[in-house]
Amino acid sequence: FKPKPLAGRRVLMTAGPTYEPLDPVRGITNISSGKMGYALARALRHAGAEVQLVSGPVALPAPAGVERIGVMTAAEMHLAVMQRVAHADVFIGVAAVADYRPDDAAEHKIKKTGEAPVIRLARNPDILADVASLPAAPFCVGFAAESRDLESYARGKLEAKRLKLVVGNLVQDGMGGDTNRVVLFDAAGDHPLPAASKDEVAAGIVAHLARMLDA
Ligand code: PMT
Repeated sequence: FKPKPLAGRRVLMTAGPTYEPLDPVRGITNISSGKMGYALARALRHAGAEVQLVSGPVALPAPAGVERIGVMTAAEMHLAVMQRVAHADVFIGVAAVADYRPDDAAEHKIKKTGEAPVIRLARNPDILADVASLPAAPFCVGFAAESRDLESYARGKLEAKRLKLVVGNLVQDGMGGDTNRVVLFDAAGDHPLPAASKDEVAAGIVAHLARMLDA
């Protein structure tokens, strides 16, 4: 009998995109499918963790044994996380949170007129940065999705947000599909994992996380 490496650990995490409405039928979102976050939630659960998954709109079933909290916007995701973070030992931000939202969503459908409308954007809260700066912050893990210069951007996020671990991936490798290639960045160095299915990549992330939590 092998004890589960994350038994007794409470993990709060985010996954999927957020959707920022422009009017009742349109909005701003991104191509995150939620697959990486959901694979990680399953792997964490498999390793014995108690998992709460705050999820943006995705077409995936809730992982077995995981509590899923569904949200649409970054503001809702921020609130759902802040309401639960006091009970978490670990926070993991896998969600592709929209950095901006339409400043003033229209109550009714925007109609076509002579002039092209101009969309004003407002900044959304940074959920991960807010969690990491709490006085009693949990162990914080961020993801970094980049289209180039992965190492410098990922290391920048590790330091700027004062995180313990950043999982870096290139958008072209990991967003939307069933496979991913990630590099884990922590104070000890860079740890590349082989390109694999998101389930296998998630197992590699969990093994590294378990070693860090035990150290
Ligand atoms: O969902 P899939 O299709 O499987 O794709 C997986 C993925 C590519 C989305 C995932 O592996 C990934 O990299 N997620 C993070 C995407 C991202 O938006 O990264 P970022 O570099 O913009 O943000 C850095 C970190 O801050 C992330 O942990 C993010 O969750 C967090 N963040 C960002 C902005 C914000 N307002 N609040 C946040 O919490």
